[in-house]
Formats: sequence, structure tokens, C-alpha cells
Amino acid sequence: MEKKNILMSKFKHLTGALAGLVALGLAPAAAQNYPTRPITVIVPFAAGGPTDVIARIVGDHMSKTLGQTLVIENVVGAGGTTGITRAKRAKNHGYTIAMGHLGTQAAAPALYPNLQYDPLNDFEQIGLAAGTPILILAKKDFPPKDLKEFVTYVKANESKLNMAHAGVGSVSFTTCLLLNHILKVKPTSIPYQGTGPSINALVGGQVDYMCDQIVNAVPQVLGGTIKAYAIGTEERNPALPNVPTSKEAGLPEFQASAWNALIAPKDTPKPIMEKLSAALDKALDDEATRKRLLELGSDIPGKNRRGGAALSALVKSEIDKWTPVIKAAGPLN
Ligand code: MLT
Repeated sequence: MEKKNILMSKFKHLTGALAGLVALGLAPAAAQNYPTRPITVIVPFAAGGPTDVIARIVGDHMSKTLGQTLVIENVVGAGGTTGITRAKRAKNHGYTIAMGHLGTQAAAPALYPNLQYDPLNDFEQIGLAAGTPILILAKKDFPPKDLKEFVTYVKANESKLNMAHAGVGSVSFTTCLLLNHILKVKPTSIPYQGTGPSINALVGGQVDYMCDQIVNAVPQVLGGTIKAYAIGTEERNPALPNVPTSKEAGLPEFQASAWNALIAPKDTPKPIMEKLSAALDKALDDEATRKRLLELGSDIPGKNRRGGAALSALVKSEIDKWTPVIKAAGPLN
């Protein structure tokens, strides 16, 4: 009996010491040696869309820094909330992270009363990857020549028009909810598993218009396979210098810019979070990575907008910004 008590006492001392080390942030060796195998990045939309493209661009460089491949896993559905819920439930060992965005992290709480995650409290925030201004897009043979004609035409033909989006809670859904609210129209809305597929439908003429992140539309606009009527930011975008701002085009109320950001499950150890945030930071400073993001019209965050604390502040401010917009837009269908 004596021997067993001695062993139990030693075990308790050992676990106590380990807990002390963890408490001091000196996490177990696993965190110190992280990563020792590939890292899964959940992208909550179909391949080829903006979330997927940004995850692959920054993930390519992060893989070099971390010495392990970042493997994209597209987990679609429910406007991106299925994938983000999967990320919430993942183990907090740093080998499953996710690319969320304005829709999943800031609009979803107002759009899903029973949302299965809290964007702020159920995740550790790795950092902002890219800002993505919103374009008002239409199929190439849509009759209006400019935004003023677009407004008149959509108001006159709303019952005949199909608007594409990536599901309730997506950026494309939320920002066109704002546009339709401003125009006081309710077109038929056609959901897709991402704006990769929906922009293909726009190019094919199967849908009439949509609101999408610029990174998903630059080649198509430049190639003339779709039309861009305006961009929802104060300034024009260098990737599409001929596309007027919504203010220039006569619809100043339409101000819309999204963002994509990396997150990890709650209680992911601090040393792991620091490595992930540092790798993202390095990717955003890499010339080749910056070139790929800028060519697609991204807004690359400056140093003061990077890292977990800045992302937490952004998520909170964006929830505060978009919740009243969504409530004012009224019932979803
Ligand atoms: C969105 O509309 O939320 C995104 O563009 C969807 C996507 O990344 O495919």
C-alpha cells in the first residue's frame, strides 16, 4: 500500500509541475515542435471561389515557413457555417484551422438564430489574410449600360430576375441583401456552394446578377465575360481601374467590402497560435504572395491590422456593423 501511495504522490507532483509549465506558457514538447505533420485548412465553400483562392495563396507560403503542407479541405453548406462549425469542433492541436470571412464570422450570427458557434468565443484568432472589396456584377448581355440603368432595370424587372449567391450567411448573400434593400427589390435568389460555381453560372448567363468579392471576378471582368457596374469602396481598385465606385456611379449607400481571416479552435496552445500568426504575417510580407493577392484586387492588411488581437477587434466591429444592416433588410425571403 505504501509503495502505491508513494507512486500516486509522485504522479500528482509530476502532473502539477507539468500544469505549472503549461500555465507559464511553456507548453508541452508537442507545441514546441509544432508542426510535425500537414495542417488541414477548412475552407467552408466550394473550390475555386474567393475563400478557397485566398486560402491557397497564403497557404502556399505558410507551408514553406512552417515546413509542413497546408492541405485545403472544402467543407460546404449553409453559407459557410457548416465548415466553420466543423472547425469549432476540431481538436485544438493546431492541425485543423479554417479560413472564415465577413459572412461566416460577422453576418452569420444575425442570419442564423441557432448558429452552432460564437465567432469570437469559440475560436482563437490567427489573423486577417486579405480585404476583398465587393463588386456589383451581371451577365455580359444584361441590358443596363451603367449602374443608374441597372437600378432602374432591376426595379422594373425584379420578379423576372435571378440573383446568385453562396448561401445564407455568405458574403455574396449578405452584400446583395444590402443592395436589394437599397433598391427595395426581392429577385429570385439562387444559392450555390460557393461563388466559384455561381460566377460560372453568371458567365454562362444562367443567372442575371450577383455581388461578389473582387478576387473572384477580375479575370472575367477584364475578359468581358461578365459586367462589373461598380465597386463598393471609397476608391477604385487598381486591379479594375475602369470600374467606378458606387458613389461615382450614383449609389453611394452601397458600401461593401469583405475580408477573409484564419481562425483556430478555442484553446489552441499559445506557442502554436504564435507560429501560425507569424507564418501568415510572413506570407503577407512575401513579394510573390503579395503580387498574387494584389493582382486579384485584394487589400493586404498593414502590420497594425494583422495578428489575433486585431482580428478579434475586427470581428466584433463587423458583427456590430452588419447586424443592424441585416435586421433592417427584413425577412430573408
Ligand atoms: C461568399 O460569397 O461568401 C464567398 O464568395 C463564397 C466563396 O468563397 O465561394
